[in-house]
Amino acid sequence: MKKNKAFIFNAYGAILDTYQPFEVYKDQLGEHALVIYKLWRSKRLQYSSQLSLMNRYTNYDLISKYALEFACDVYGMKDVTVKKNILEAHAKLDCYSDVKDSLKTLKDAGKTTAILSNGSPQKLSSALKNAGLTNLLDGIYSTDQIKTYKPSPAVYEFVEEQLALPRNKICFISSNSWDIAGAASYGFNSVWINRYNRTPEHLPYQADKVISELSELPTIVL
Ligand code: LAC
Repeated sequence: MKKNKAFIFNAYGAILDTYQPFEVYKDQLGEHALVIYKLWRSKRLQYSSQLSLMNRYTNYDLISKYALEFACDVYGMKDVTVKKNILEAHAKLDCYSDVKDSLKTLKDAGKTTAILSNGSPQKLSSALKNAGLTNLLDGIYSTDQIKTYKPSPAVYEFVEEQLALPRNKICFISSNSWDIAGAASYGFNSVWINRYNRTPEHLPYQADKVISELSELPTIVL
């Protein structure tokens, strides 16, 4: 892992704490806050993949909205203002407490750091700025730039071209095991940040390493 020159992260779950707004509105969401959150995320992946297969590229903010409406519908959560506020809060998320030190250690070691996210460019840059991460990142790439979603190989190829590095010098770090499968299948080195002890995918394209906190990353890769 020490040969990697660039470290590319997914945004939501690895860097930005995307559960935060659900915590803020937990009284309104009631006992179903966590399951609505989980269903929202998996529905969002289904919709982005499904719409891609349908050749109907759709803005990620809209996909997030459709998925949240579905998840809330399943659990009878009808408060329109809460749904709107949760989506808007994604433009001002905080990062996890282990992010800044880890990015700084990588940058101090001369490595390139960047984000590759399915998130819309506007929400991404606003949230990363709000979290105070702009100076610790060399690039912020959104799949919207090529109108194709992860885990399409076209997305990983896009970031490889942007970095002008061979894929075996690029380490991809994601909180999503489906994203790791995509990156590993493409040929990136990969680290799955499994913050919540989730079950790995049962696919042949596995992470090279699994960590539970980002602070473990520098010791593996430097
Ligand atoms: C990201 C989401 C999908 O790409 O986690 O940041």
